[in-house]
Amino acid sequence: MSSQSQSSPISINTLANRKRDGQKFACLTSYDALFSELISSAGIEVMLVGDSLGMVLQGHDSTLPVTLDDMVYHMNCVRRGNQGSLIMADLPFMSYASASQSLESAAALMRCGAHMVKLEGGAWLAESTRLLHERGIPVCAHMGLTPQSINRFGGFRVQGRNPEQASLMLDEALILEDSGASVLLLECVPTELGRTITERLQVPVIGIGAGPHTDGQIMVLHDMLGITPSSIRTPKFVKNFLPESKEGIRGALQAYAESVRDGTFPAPEHCFN
Ligand code: KIV
Repeated sequence: MSSQSQSSPISINTLANRKRDGQKFACLTSYDALFSELISSAGIEVMLVGDSLGMVLQGHDSTLPVTLDDMVYHMNCVRRGNQGSLIMADLPFMSYASASQSLESAAALMRCGAHMVKLEGGAWLAESTRLLHERGIPVCAHMGLTPQSINRFGGFRVQGRNPEQASLMLDEALILEDSGASVLLLECVPTELGRTITERLQVPVIGIGAGPHTDGQIMVLHDMLGITPSSIRTPKFVKNFLPESKEGIRGALQAYAESVRDGTFPAPEHCFN
């Protein structure tokens, strides 16, 4: 695909149409203006200003120390470089502990140019999701391994492995869809659960370590360029696209987008069964 600056900007309708038409789409985290320009010019549909910046940029061992001010700073940088991708921004830890707080926090990110916000959690987010949706703020619900809850999980572990957990996750995803979530992001779940949730939901599902059947795929930028900080254990679902590129970073971004669209990424070795 050519530069998105030459075609219409990506919106939540584009993603819904991609799902309807069975066309997969690519997403990547983005934290600054330069990479925002490179990623969006490569035709990658969604850029996530992720709170993973706490780990890959700030050197923390979790996403918990990231503040709303940090997110506002990086959101502004990404907006300046964007060439037409949809920008999703993370609400950081404890910035959406109540519905009214989620509205304030989401508004701060939307004022900087975010097109949608992402919140981590299950059915307890129904009230916030409905409130944001009704006030004109599209919501992505992040389920499965939600890194802000890492202390409750006791580590970065695959979620939904047993039938009870899997069925609960599907029920909660349906509740959030019913509450107005426009997108669901599923992290680190078995391939079959990724497939079931994608098939049962009307809205697009983005996966990371959730198998090949989700409507879109996302990766952390530093992981797909093979520059994960040494303090972070590289997860199984990561692929470094730089070695197969003849055109450096630009080529790697394009190779990633093409592999997602033609279904060759993720391969079985990137999935949990
Ligand atoms: O913050 C982030 O980068 C994320 C992705 C891992 C999906 O939430």
